[in-house]
Amino acid sequence: MITFAEIMQMEPKLVSTSRSVMTEMIMPNDTNPLHHLMGGNLMRWMDIIGGICAGKHCESHVVTASVDHVSFHEGIEVGEVITLTAQVTRAFNTSVETFVEVHVADIKGHNSRKSNHAYFTFVAVDEKNHRPQKVPGVIPENPEEEKLFESAQRRREVRLVLAGRIKPEEASELIDYFSAFDE
Ligand SMILES: CC(C)(COP(=O)(O)OP(=O)(O)OC[C@H]1O[C@@H](n2cnc3c(N)ncnc32)[C@H](O)[C@@H]1OP(=O)(O)O)[C@@H](O)C(=O)NCCC(=O)NCCS
Repeated sequence: MITFAEIMQMEPKLVSTSRSVMTEMIMPNDTNPLHHLMGGNLMRWMDIIGGICAGKHCESHVVTASVDHVSFHEGIEVGEVITLTAQVTRAFNTSVETFVEVHVADIKGHNSRKSNHAYFTFVAVDEKNHRPQKVPGVIPENPEEEKLFESAQRRREVRLVLAGRIKPEEASELIDYFSAFDE
């Protein structure tokens, strides 16, 4: 029998409920031979904060199913401080998309700038068999969150096509979106 706690766990949740923040100072051990933060280390932190956020939203263990495009525009130097913020954008059936943003500043909080962002997809899995399980919905609260919610379906279709999980002709939201430009 499904318990009251399980019913509550499936209630749709506000984006703000699981928004998560992490701060790191770049140490020599985090860098490449040019003394810039190594891209793989940044991606690791992005994965961790995205997973914490998704786990909080789903109230369960989650696994990373995919990461969308990440680009590195400029180096991040030793001693700089990065702040990673993660928020859920939309939930599907057993997966949830999180948006992770990275900002950089020096130790005094000066020279603040946005460094990267990426969309991660996490799948909630059950404790026993690690099989996918249903996730609660996401309630966007402001225009920015609504925009991310709206566009999430298109990003999902792109990644499922690229992963070979659906055929391009099955990406109905994407087809509708692009056909609007033809009119
Ligand atoms: C992710 C994983 C649980 C999916 O298992 P599966 O048997 O393919 O399960 P399903 O077909 O039911 O898919 C489950 C969900 O994953 C999503 N998914 C699977 N592959 C995906 C991909 N490449 N990109 C985005 N979503 C994906 C599906 O769309 C589905 O989401 P939905 O229920 O919201 O529609 C499984 O592939 C896995 O455990 N992968 C390893 C995860 C891991 O270890 N990550 C760390 C990397 S080292």
